[in-house]
Amino acid sequence: MDQQVSGIIVLFGASGDLAQRKLYPSLFHLYQQGWLSQRFALIGTSRRPWTDEHYHEIIVESIINYTKDESLRAVAGEFAQHFYYISNDASQTEDYILLKDKMLDLQKQYQTDKNFLYYLSIAPSLFEITSHHLKKTGIIDIPGNHRVILEKPFGVDLASAQSLNQALNISFAESDIYRIDHYVGKESVLNIWATRQYNPFFEAIWNHNYIDHFQVTLSEDLPVGSRGGYYDQTGALLDMFQNHILQVISFVGMDLPNSQDDLHPKKEAFLREIPSFDLESVQTNIVRGQYGQAKDGSEPAYRDLEGVSEDSSTETFVAGKFRINNDRWQGTPFYFRTGKALSSGKYTTVEAVLKDNLSTCDSPNRMTFVITPEYGLEVSMNQKAFKGGFKPQTMRMLPDKEILESRVASESYEILIYYAFLGNQMLFTTWEELKEQWRIADSIKDAWLQLDPPAFPNYPAMTKGPEAAKDLIESDGRRWINPQY
Ligand code: BG6
Repeated sequence: MDQQVSGIIVLFGASGDLAQRKLYPSLFHLYQQGWLSQRFALIGTSRRPWTDEHYHEIIVESIINYTKDESLRAVAGEFAQHFYYISNDASQTEDYILLKDKMLDLQKQYQTDKNFLYYLSIAPSLFEITSHHLKKTGIIDIPGNHRVILEKPFGVDLASAQSLNQALNISFAESDIYRIDHYVGKESVLNIWATRQYNPFFEAIWNHNYIDHFQVTLSEDLPVGSRGGYYDQTGALLDMFQNHILQVISFVGMDLPNSQDDLHPKKEAFLREIPSFDLESVQTNIVRGQYGQAKDGSEPAYRDLEGVSEDSSTETFVAGKFRINNDRWQGTPFYFRTGKALSSGKYTTVEAVLKDNLSTCDSPNRMTFVITPEYGLEVSMNQKAFKGGFKPQTMRMLPDKEILESRVASESYEILIYYAFLGNQMLFTTWEELKEQWRIADSIKDAWLQLDPPAFPNYPAMTKGPEAAKDLIESDGRRWINPQY
């Protein structure tokens, strides 16, 4: 990140949780590093009738909360002077006319480059009307680059995503649509690709001859908590699998891109290789779960949360497997699992489990990409046991401790906003990728609709998840590596 960027950001959803937890601190960090120049301004909008002064206080508090560093208060206050607030009702044309006037004033005042970012951190039901007004009021006719950034979920299935995309295309070309999957902005996810790219020996073994299978785990101890209203309409399949898991898997399974521009074509081609599920394959290859009350009563059952229906069949856990039948993988299984309120803690990894001589080896050789906590690659290899003759013993090789301690990963939103300013879509989800992701997720959802409602709850909160997830992998003669069952 060596090029300084400037421009105007219009943030819809300025009072929201994401803005306060992630976006303001990320922008501040970009500014502090000098990557975001002095010639930038941000107009925050939401329905609330805030003043600029109140808005500045919110910005400063969100930065102090994030950094836990009181000494930054003065510089955060200076930074907040670049922020302006306008209250906006998404359906009121006159509100957008005021917005346009403000944008033109600020463009002169800050001598910004001709970059305009519209960040839609709002309910997806408002995406269409907002982009419609940006066109109708001529905002996107102001000479310059106009790009729209959208938070997930992009649709609730393929059909709704398609119609949302068509509506957006009236105002924005595909090259100006930036669909965020914050996992793709994580340095530790990008490191999967980088490690493969920078180490030719990886490519030599990155195929069915040497890799037995992959395990992708995104498990969370965090329960659904106060997000019941959103989550009950979504579930683990759409909240984590449809987007984050499939994106992570595509970095693992794709053919190596020839250049950065070739990343999307390679991910798209890989996603196309993932077969759709049918009723039978869902019954054998997908496990879903929902948590009940914790055994010690410390966590309420999912169905008892506010916003969740009392007979909800929404899954808070999903695990599954599929095989890719291309030249590279020839049937290699990809196992995945994700869930809420699990005893594992927050644990995100990709395990590449290597073929080995299991009749003599201690446990499988493997490479583990650790995504959370963010620290890169661990390698576990069978070696000669110390003073053990020629008995094999698994040795874990960890990254250098000093490097780990000095390595502070950038917040993924920081990287994503910076790339959007540059007009570089490399880290955003293309329509082609999204279409495939929906095809795969829809095929599972459609099969579930044909089945009887599941017998939920089927795991107590703060345990390892449903037993069937264990059987899913063990029936193939394999086991979940970590956290173990
Ligand atoms: C979000 C999901 O997209 O990702 C949340 O909506 C989930 O349910 C979160 O907790 C996980 O992200 P991270 O970066 O904390 O692993």
